[in-house]
Amino acid sequence: MLGVVACGDKDDDSGDTGDGGDGGGEDGGGGDGGGSPSGDGGVGRPFTVADEIRTAPVAHRRDWTGPADIDLADLDATARATLVRHFLAMAAGEHASVASFHRVALELLHLGAPPQLLLDTHQAASDEIRHAQVAFGLAERFSGQAHGPGPLDVRGALDVDLGPQGVMRRLVDEACVGETIGALWLREASQRTADPALTAMLGGIAQDEETHAALGWRTLRWLLGQHPELRSEARQRIEGHYAAAWKAGAAGDELEPFGRLAARTREAVRERAFLQVILPASGALG
Ligand SMILES: [Fe+2]
Ligand SMILES: [Fe+2]
Repeated sequence: MLGVVACGDKDDDSGDTGDGGDGGGEDGGGGDGGGSPSGDGGVGRPFTVADEIRTAPVAHRRDWTGPADIDLADLDATARATLVRHFLAMAAGEHASVASFHRVALELLHLGAPPQLLLDTHQAASDEIRHAQVAFGLAERFSGQAHGPGPLDVRGALDVDLGPQGVMRRLVDEACVGETIGALWLREASQRTADPALTAMLGGIAQDEETHAALGWRTLRWLLGQHPELRSEARQRIEGHYAAAWKAGAAGDELEPFGRLAARTREAVRERAFLQVILPASGALG
């Protein structure tokens, strides 16, 4: 788990995801089921505009559907419907992360960031396209119907504080806290699945998300190196997330073999993420 942050140390450079449209789920793809104030919700970086987590509506189309050859076992219709909602919400969140990382790239350009951070941010945006395809593919496997994203409303995406303080706050909320927890949820989900193909699919996404979380911490360290006056606010903001009220939802553990974590598992992983990764990393910010 500590590798999430440790792998971000290679280069210091100085320094149930909302609603899946018409298939919106009650728990999302590991999302927080409604944009918690702590922002530690989805498995990917959320696309937030004016304090609202935006995702595209779900549309019927085939070009976003990745392969998902997994064993459906004896799933009944209710379980399948729950998993369809779960993976459609995950897909919508992953798709929205593409926009989020593109905005991060613009923020980094605006702040004069070094090239490696930009390269890694663009790589992360590409990763999110693949993640969305995997999740849409899983939704198709459980539903028998092809889905993909409709238009994503990106209006106002740059009507945010593009200065170092605004960028720092989004980095803390969406990456250092949000993506770190999301990555560990996905890793846990991959380890609790029964089907080896599903384990590999979720494990592959978890690996990418761990890299994205590490990128978030690396970007924050670079930013704080440029603006040391923001250090203490960044640390306080991170600690505030740990203290904030948060709800894990009500999912039971019966669908963990199919990649949907139980609420109690999500809660335990979140706690572990703070104690073993996020708070120590915050303390090391200086
Ligand atoms: Fe992702
Ligand atoms: Fe990500």
